[in-house]
Amino acid sequence: MSQRIQFAQTGGSEVLELVNTTQAEPGPEEVRIANKAVGLNFIDIYFRTGLYPAPALPSGLGTEGAGVVDAVGENVTHLNVGDRVAYAQGPLGAYAEHHVLPAAKVVKLPDFIDFETAAASMLKGLTVQYLLRQTYALKGGETILFHAAAGGVGSIACQWAKALGVKLIGTVSSQEKADLAMQNGAWATINYTQEDVVERVRELTNGEMCDVVYDSVGKDTWEVSLNCLKPRALMVSFGNASGPVDGVNIGILNQKGSLFVTRPSLNGYADTRERLEMMCEDFFGMIESGKIKVDVANRYPLADAGKAQDALQNRKTTGSTVLLP
Ligand SMILES: NC(=O)c1ccc[n+]([C@@H]2O[C@H](COP(=O)([O-])OP(=O)(O)OC[C@H]3O[C@@H](n4cnc5c(N)ncnc54)[C@H](OP(=O)(O)O)[C@@H]3O)[C@@H](O)[C@H]2O)c1
Repeated sequence: MSQRIQFAQTGGSEVLELVNTTQAEPGPEEVRIANKAVGLNFIDIYFRTGLYPAPALPSGLGTEGAGVVDAVGENVTHLNVGDRVAYAQGPLGAYAEHHVLPAAKVVKLPDFIDFETAAASMLKGLTVQYLLRQTYALKGGETILFHAAAGGVGSIACQWAKALGVKLIGTVSSQEKADLAMQNGAWATINYTQEDVVERVRELTNGEMCDVVYDSVGKDTWEVSLNCLKPRALMVSFGNASGPVDGVNIGILNQKGSLFVTRPSLNGYADTRERLEMMCEDFFGMIESGKIKVDVANRYPLADAGKAQDALQNRKTTGSTVLLP
């Protein structure tokens, strides 16, 4: 038997239940991983609430984890039983002692990355990799606005931007979060509960505004974010923490200065094994060089996944959270 968190209906964190299941065997091109640590992400909340539909109910939850391969299906060539590995993409079901998934989505972990660090950073670090290195290939010298700068993704983004020589202005909701973002390399922070974000960006940039805005808050910040951009600059809308952006009149991009907008996802960038490995090499290299330190700030037993999600959803966390099976 093996324990996993599942939900039979969408809703609040009370729909999550810990159940005993028979251990699934990996099919062709699949592996089974005995998880040592599991990553908590905002996307897990979107699936639990139904904002993103799960393929079927009852459903497992979670797409990020690290552990040891304990069974290998047919036609798997790059992994063996006993390998230390990590993953950051579906299918849902990482909140579990064991998880079966396509081998193509699983990478070997280098010795210098422990299981908790990997589970806390695979999805978030690869997201920052594509945001800062691919969606807009930052070269150094640019000014960017990054919302939720003290969160899991934000903490890695602050460090990566600093390493690239990019001025990252981070939005946060408290002084404690502002301090953390600055320690991580933000160039400046804006506490949006006390300051006007657009006016503060104007002051900080001497009226020039930003080359790119990275917005994972969604509905509440869409228009503020557009107002923080230079003419012809790029708006990257990559999350919905406050609800999805909808009902947009595309003419607003013209009114605000011939802006560009994109709505990317990790699956759209790490869509082949080669691309996943290239992105991991870049991210793991940043950890090895010491330029990025992953803040495993919160740990919960697997059984307390609901409590962990409530803390994330209610803006109580900084850095990353892991669940321990
Ligand atoms: N598209 C992709 O590929 C991709 C991949 C990974 C993550 N994401 C997105 O990136 C975001 C960050 O993910 P994460 O897991 O690292 O979470 P996180 O940043 O640790 O937590 C979310 C943070 O968002 C801020 N926030 C602002 N408005 C909020 C609201 N109405 N409700 C809740 N939080 C709000 C809070 O920070 P303050 O208190 O400082 O405001 C909160 O701490 C999420 O939106 C997620 O969906 C997207």
